[in-house]
Amino acid sequence: MTDREAFQRTYGIIGQSPEMQEIVDVIRQVAPTDITVLISGESGTGKEIVAKAIHGASKRAQQIMVSVNCGAIPEGLIESELFGHEKGAFTSASDMRRGYFEIADGGTILLDEIGEMPLATQVKLLRVLESGEFMRVGSSEARRTDVRVLAATNKLLEYEVQQKHFRPDLYFRLRSVNIHLPPLRNRKEDIPALVEQFVKETTEKNKIQFGGFNNNATELLMSYHWPGNIRELRNAIESMLVLERGKRLDEHDVRKYLHEKTQVTTDRNLPVVSNRTVEQAERELIYRALVELKSNIIEMKELLEGRLSGTNLQNSNHTQSQNGNGVLTMDEMERRMVATALDRHKGNRRNAARELNISERTLYRKIKDYGLQ
Ligand SMILES: Nc1ncnc2c1ncn2[C@@H]1O[C@H](COP(=O)(O)OP(=O)(O)OP(=O)(O)O)[C@@H](O)[C@H]1O
Ligand SMILES: [Mg+2]
Repeated sequence: MTDREAFQRTYGIIGQSPEMQEIVDVIRQVAPTDITVLISGESGTGKEIVAKAIHGASKRAQQIMVSVNCGAIPEGLIESELFGHEKGAFTSASDMRRGYFEIADGGTILLDEIGEMPLATQVKLLRVLESGEFMRVGSSEARRTDVRVLAATNKLLEYEVQQKHFRPDLYFRLRSVNIHLPPLRNRKEDIPALVEQFVKETTEKNKIQFGGFNNNATELLMSYHWPGNIRELRNAIESMLVLERGKRLDEHDVRKYLHEKTQVTTDRNLPVVSNRTVEQAERELIYRALVELKSNIIEMKELLEGRLSGTNLQNSNHTQSQNGNGVLTMDEMERRMVATALDRHKGNRRNAARELNISERTLYRKIKDYGLQ
């Protein structure tokens, strides 16, 4: 067993796809440091499991890890939840209360759904990140805390920044290390091992027999789009094993437990949902990749400008270049993305389509639509 496999086993992270291997390597590298990590990815892709592994493999492992769901706390209460409050700070504050940053002192805090954090609170978070200092609500005394911050989001934070819902300085601070979990449909080779694990867990926990999947059932599990990612897979396996107890499952049995209408196709590369949804999903993927690319370029530009003028990247103001850039239309971004991929693969459409994570058929259509060849 490799070190990586041993690590995955310790933290229950299943998956040998190149994407997962790379993610596990990054986790192992950043875990022992105190660096802030932004964990992004669709719902159910494993952000929490990654956060736990980072904490578990850190020097803070014996200390507390506090998870805060920023989207679940009412806006008016979030600051007192995070930073605490003094007695009498507001009408219902009958006692002093320590906040999560104080409670997590010495350990790790996971700020889940960070994209939901109100702008006013974001300023205070930035201060803790930069100086370790915070103030309880109703107090002007600065307190110190030694907390390792992890943040998770299933929103595209870059987009939130553009919409002025998220502070660019906090965004740049958070994304210095970004672990992005790809959706399950983009790493289908991980499905068999996940299924095997969830079957094992379910049969052991419920003390039930499992009659196996026939070929078509397996095919369906592999070709399904898994919009709810690994969580959906886990729930589906658990439900079908419990409710179809002991039976050998075919594709009709399996389909009952999937949320979307699906059909088995012979082409496994094509997500098997209605065409409109595929189109949307592909657009979103391309858009995400472009936004990522654009922000990398902006960062590089800032870095160079910072170098030239001798200023520090961390202190520079990113707002200007975010807004100052002419905004590209979606079509134009997509056209450029397709053209770049084709260039990179010297016109090889199969490879370009694979890189763009779209079917070859869709790539043909886009080449035609944009008059690229
Ligand atoms: N690589 C993996 N190996 C094994 N189990 C996994 C893996 N990734 C996720 N899971 C399981 O899938 C479920 C969902 O994972 P998790 O809660 O980490 O997702 P999430 O990204 O935090 O989702 P959300 O955005 O909805 O909070 C959990 O039961 C988790 O244990
Ligand atoms: Mg989560």
